[in-house]
Amino acid sequence: IAAAVASTLCGAAQAAPLVVGFSQIGSESGWRSAETKVSKLEAEKRGITLKIADAQQKQENQIKAIRSFIAQGVDAIFIAPVVATGWAPVLTEAKEANIPVFLLDRTIEVSDPSLYTAAIASDSVHEGEVAGQWLVKEAAGKPCNVVELQGTVGASVAINRKKGFAEGIASAPGIKIIRSQSGDFTRSKGKEVMESFIKAEQNGKNICAVYAHNDDMAIGAIQAIKEAGLKPGSQIKIVSIDGVPDIYKAMLNGEANASVELTPNMAGPAFDALLAMKKNGTQPPKFIQTASTLMLPDTAQEEYDQKKNMGY
Ligand code: AHR
Repeated sequence: IAAAVASTLCGAAQAAPLVVGFSQIGSESGWRSAETKVSKLEAEKRGITLKIADAQQKQENQIKAIRSFIAQGVDAIFIAPVVATGWAPVLTEAKEANIPVFLLDRTIEVSDPSLYTAAIASDSVHEGEVAGQWLVKEAAGKPCNVVELQGTVGASVAINRKKGFAEGIASAPGIKIIRSQSGDFTRSKGKEVMESFIKAEQNGKNICAVYAHNDDMAIGAIQAIKEAGLKPGSQIKIVSIDGVPDIYKAMLNGEANASVELTPNMAGPAFDALLAMKKNGTQPPKFIQTASTLMLPDTAQEEYDQKKNMGY
């Protein structure tokens, strides 16, 4: 009885677990699904209750979800913002409700930076630059016509990865972006857009390389190239961003050349920053930057095995 009383008393003294609402974009890519999975695991590790709302790639759904999290009185809100603009009204509501907001993997444009606590993301201009510099080295002074598959229109990462790549190839006047269009970060649209590029460019013979803003679009492009009777990875070089298992598989098959890895663990650092805020009032840095590492076929097997072991 004494033990039961003691455990009840202890239980009563324990703080309730933190509740975090996460407005996730959707499941447009392998990377995105991995991020959702990892976020759940990281929440579990810390005893945090995580409520995830899938916005199906629509900002209006994200705004609705954020309003619902505010009404529920969650302890914090995480947002992976599908586009960069249009957030000020709903973030003002969160601020008025004293709910800290953390941005995951994409950034936003607001005139009042106090509308969010911190952003956990990579330097996406740098990611594009790394991809561009890889191509400069690969082309070794030879001319190269590049087709670009952009991410979702208006997404910070699409804007920045485009800019960074252009900066990365600036030193090589022979490298030219001959076509550039959005594939919305999905495999199916990446394939569709690549098919149209191939048709428009002498059945692909005028294309030297594909730069895709994510691996899923690159994988769609690889399929389109193969269906056109060309060899991705050799006749047409493939460089993209994310480092998901399928791109390592493509590297192992000789069909992809390089990917700039982006960690799907954005939630872990955000949870830690939130816990430090709640425990000691520590204000996190405004931008918590994750690494951008160039991955090549020589380590593809290792990377593939590691990611598969981690469950994504
Ligand atoms: O914001 C990160 C990007 O979003 C990933 O590179 C892409 O795969 C995802 O959809």
